[in-house]
Amino acid sequence: MPEFVYGTAWKEDRTAALVQLAIRAGFRAIDTANQRKHYYEAGVGEALAAVYRAGLVERENLFLQTKFTYQRGQDHRLPYDSKAPLAVQVAHSLASSLDHLATDHVDSFVLHGPSSGYEWTEDDTEVWEAMRHERDAGRTRLLGVSNVSLDHLEQMAANALELPAYVQNRCFARTGWDREVRAFCDQHKINYQGFSLLTANPEVLRHPPLIGLAEKLTATPAQIVFAFARAVGMLPLSGTSNAEHMKQDLASLTLTLPPEVVQAIESIAG
Ligand SMILES: NC(=O)c1ccc[n+]([C@@H]2O[C@H](COP(=O)([O-])OP(=O)(O)OC[C@H]3O[C@@H](n4cnc5c(N)ncnc54)[C@H](OP(=O)(O)O)[C@@H]3O)[C@@H](O)[C@H]2O)c1
Repeated sequence: MPEFVYGTAWKEDRTAALVQLAIRAGFRAIDTANQRKHYYEAGVGEALAAVYRAGLVERENLFLQTKFTYQRGQDHRLPYDSKAPLAVQVAHSLASSLDHLATDHVDSFVLHGPSSGYEWTEDDTEVWEAMRHERDAGRTRLLGVSNVSLDHLEQMAANALELPAYVQNRCFARTGWDREVRAFCDQHKINYQGFSLLTANPEVLRHPPLIGLAEKLTATPAQIVFAFARAVGMLPLSGTSNAEHMKQDLASLTLTLPPEVVQAIESIAG
């Protein structure tokens, strides 16, 4: 299981160079999506080919995660025929991801977001069953869902659906860092991946006690946030484009925060 995930959204033609830089810095888990609007998955594949060629790392030492995105989250560059049944769209999306990443399986395949912000729908169940089929066929080790509420997860459970191995959510401090969803995940042994830990929480990075703590530990406020995320059981994502920040983000894995500090950060904003 990875400890820190490098995110590849919004990097366009810098994707290949930045993913290579991230792997050289020590990241071993990469998050992408077959959603050309926000991700350049083929660029991730270019980076992988380069690091394999350079002998830096082998496929089995990397954790590769991609996503299936409904048509409404895409632009015109679709990895499937939008008229095909959803199950076929899922299969084609993953086949295209495997092609982009030049691998026969990913480690995690994530539903980018349910079809409705309010409820788990029949379409979601059809997609989820198709994703399970891909997993059973060996094309992904694990399954995940992203951008989900507690209601979505409870409805999955109420419909007796297999629960995901991962939940990947934007994590706002003002919701107690997604407290309700994290509690559900804890209860059901689901691994919680948190993104936008820095960008969604500028008030935390400006919080004087947190800045004081960072100074005391000769760390940066960003490192404290990532160390906090680890301490409460999250798997953090960072999509930094800066080589120094890549090193700092990974170095935060060695920071241990006392329980009372973790508790204080958990209740900074919500
Ligand atoms: N499932 C979804 O719907 C979804 C949505 C959004 C994102 N994601 C995934 O999550 C990944 C991360 O996205 P994100 O929203 O968390 O934003 P991000 O792209 O990781 O942006 C993080 C921001 O924090 C800064 N930063 C990172 N490390 C830092 C450090 N040590 N010190 C100071 N600043 C630092 C970065 O600036 P620098 O570049 O200057 O370091 C950047 O401005 C994405 O690439 C994507 O893979 C998934």
